[in-house]
Amino acid sequence: MYLFKFVNTLLATTVLATGQPLCDKYTTALFKDNTEDNQLKLLTALVNTVVIGNFSATVNNQPVPGILAPATFNGQPVNMLPFFTGQQGATANVNGVATAGVNFLDGGGADPLKQGLPANSQNTRQFKLLTHLYQLFGSLLGCSKQGGQVFPNYAGNPSMTDVHRFMKLDNATMSFFIQQVGAAALSFGVTPDDANVVGNALTALFNDQCTAPAPLTPQSSPQPQAFCLGSGCSPQHGVDPTSCPQGPGSLPNNSPSGASNNQQSQQNSGSQSSGQSLCDKYTTALFKDNTEDNQLKLLTALVNRVVGGNFTATANGKPVTGILVKGTFDGQPVDMLPFFTGQSGPTTNVGGVATAGINFLDGGAADALKQGLPANDPNSRQFKLLTHLYQLFGSLLACSKQGGQVFPNYSGNPSMLDTHRFMNLNKATMDFFIDQVGQAAISFGVTADDATKVGQALQTLFNNQCAPLAKLTPQTAPTEQGFCLGDGCQNLKDQTACPNGVQSNTGSTSSSSGSSSASSNGKVIKCLPRGAISMGSSVHKRSEL
Ligand code: HEM
Ligand code: HEM
Ligand SMILES: *[C@@H]1O[C@H](CO)[C@@H](O)[C@H](O)[C@H]1NC(C)=O
Ligand SMILES: *[C@@H]1O[C@H](CO)[C@@H](O)[C@H](O)[C@H]1NC(C)=O
Ligand SMILES: *[C@@H]1O[C@H](CO)[C@@H](O)[C@H](O)[C@H]1NC(C)=O
Ligand SMILES: *[C@@H]1O[C@H](CO)[C@@H](O)[C@H](O)[C@H]1NC(C)=O
Repeated sequence: MYLFKFVNTLLATTVLATGQPLCDKYTTALFKDNTEDNQLKLLTALVNTVVIGNFSATVNNQPVPGILAPATFNGQPVNMLPFFTGQQGATANVNGVATAGVNFLDGGGADPLKQGLPANSQNTRQFKLLTHLYQLFGSLLGCSKQGGQVFPNYAGNPSMTDVHRFMKLDNATMSFFIQQVGAAALSFGVTPDDANVVGNALTALFNDQCTAPAPLTPQSSPQPQAFCLGSGCSPQHGVDPTSCPQGPGSLPNNSPSGASNNQQSQQNSGSQSSGQSLCDKYTTALFKDNTEDNQLKLLTALVNRVVGGNFTATANGKPVTGILVKGTFDGQPVDMLPFFTGQSGPTTNVGGVATAGINFLDGGAADALKQGLPANDPNSRQFKLLTHLYQLFGSLLACSKQGGQVFPNYSGNPSMLDTHRFMNLNKATMDFFIDQVGQAAISFGVTADDATKVGQALQTLFNNQCAPLAKLTPQTAPTEQGFCLGDGCQNLKDQTACPNGVQSNTGSTSSSSGSSSASSNGKVIKCLPRGAISMGSSVHKRSEL
């Protein structure tokens, strides 16, 4: 669990932070226009300085020696240059073979870097190395414009362990490299706090060994990434047998796959990720064994965090508030707690009757959730609600092992409209809930892309009204699902799901969540299905998860 949580620190903090990614922030600060071109300029300036040291005056008046200069770190000697010139011995990974004599500074060495170029010729190893470094750091810093012709996405080997496996780098060397990234950043005026975020993330991702596979960029599949494999290095976050098959220390000479050709590895990573469900992917990443038990653990951890916020540190260093705190979304106030405590008026659907005063947090509330439980009492409403949430999200994420005694299939109401029909929830409230699901996922190291898929599926299924009937799970019949019934909600106007016309389902458009549930009842009820069974398009979307 820790393994994966730590590994995505930087991705998560910089790509999906609510604020601006660090790349965008400093592109704007240094080059004014936040364009793809200028983002590449920022990364070129940064990486070139990391490699050869500062070649012009620095903002903070501190020189940056760069990684190629002999140095010491914590009293230990560091000398990286021979690794780059091929003089260190058989340290380059050429198609899985440890190879000596490969010069990576064959494109003019420092001279082109001083001129803001990666190399003096495109057909050099130096060009490839430097552009891949720009691309990787651009991705890690969340560059929003990266991905076009000018500044393409990372196209190198998706496993940093694989690239560096024969170098057997020691702790001092790793630490010095990371320190130089920080020093270069500071030398351009990056704040110490921001530089620390970057340094900590690099440390968590790479200055370790045997950590569970993690995606290097949002585009790549989970692969081993850590490569502190020499002296002073020990596993900081456990030993994952996938990344460290023969135990700590043996990895450099026991490559499991041997594959290291860039193109090849990338194709492997692509095909690995396709076909596996998100539930299976992240159960494996966080809990190693893809068992029914661990799939339930994954869903418990996720849903408990969505509901109660984070009770432990998050992988991305960002807190998750959970849905029960008062918040705002798009400037609109959101307050879900009263719906769960029964204080929002008659918002619970009890046998079709809108009922007030029903407390769904009657099983120890957050205290139980903190302990990784749905509730402290199996006979509580809280227990039922939470287990149904685990089950539904397990189904939506396509948990392959769900359906046994340990993690049963979904057994709640097959219509989400029916469950929520008297709540008259507005779009801001729906959005906030869905956003919390995404934030909770990311806080466990789920990639931005994967979290987006989940968010989109929830939007499609639930954040609307009068959508065509859809199956909630593979086991249930198509019925009404969309339950955005208040302000700002999208009406999909399907006459099967909403037979009384376009406006009949919405209630008053000025009503907001929690304020007019009683008056909305009649209007919502008009939207009952009239027997027609049709598969909603959302069903197909869902299965993509
Ligand atoms: C946080 C630390 C580091 C990061 C993020 C990093 C990143 C990278 C990347 C992206 C590549 C290009 C991979 C490709 O083209 O597929 C690379 C290659 C390389 N790195 Fe590192 N690196 C780090 C630390 C180090 C250290 C400490 C050394 C010490 C010598 C080193 C030596 C090399 C060499 C020699 C290559 C060329 C190897 C090849 O492409 O086969 N790196 N690194
Ligand atoms: C994508 C968004 C949502 C999903 C997937 C979802 C899912 C669920 C599920 C599966 C249940 C249990 C149903 C059962 O036991 O039969 C439930 C109940 C409940 N939900 Fe939601 N929900 C969502 C959004 C919301 C929002 C925004 C609120 C705002 C207050 C809310 C309030 C409740 C309450 C109070 C209950 C207990 C009602 C009952 O069981 O009668 N939900 N929800
Ligand atoms: C590197 O930075 C220091 C401090 O700003 C400066 O004194 C030195 O001249 C710089 N080096 C070059 C080559 O510009
Ligand atoms: C590297 O050394 C530092 C300082 O001694 C230590 O805290 C850290 O755990 C070491 N890292 C690894 C991967 O062993
Ligand atoms: C929630 O996450 C934040 C960021 O990782 C952390 O600072 C905070 O301590 C966490 N909250 C709890 C209760 O652990
Ligand atoms: C649970 O759901 C799966 C996936 O749809 C299905 O194959 C399985 O038969 C279900 N199990 C039970 C006990 O209903």
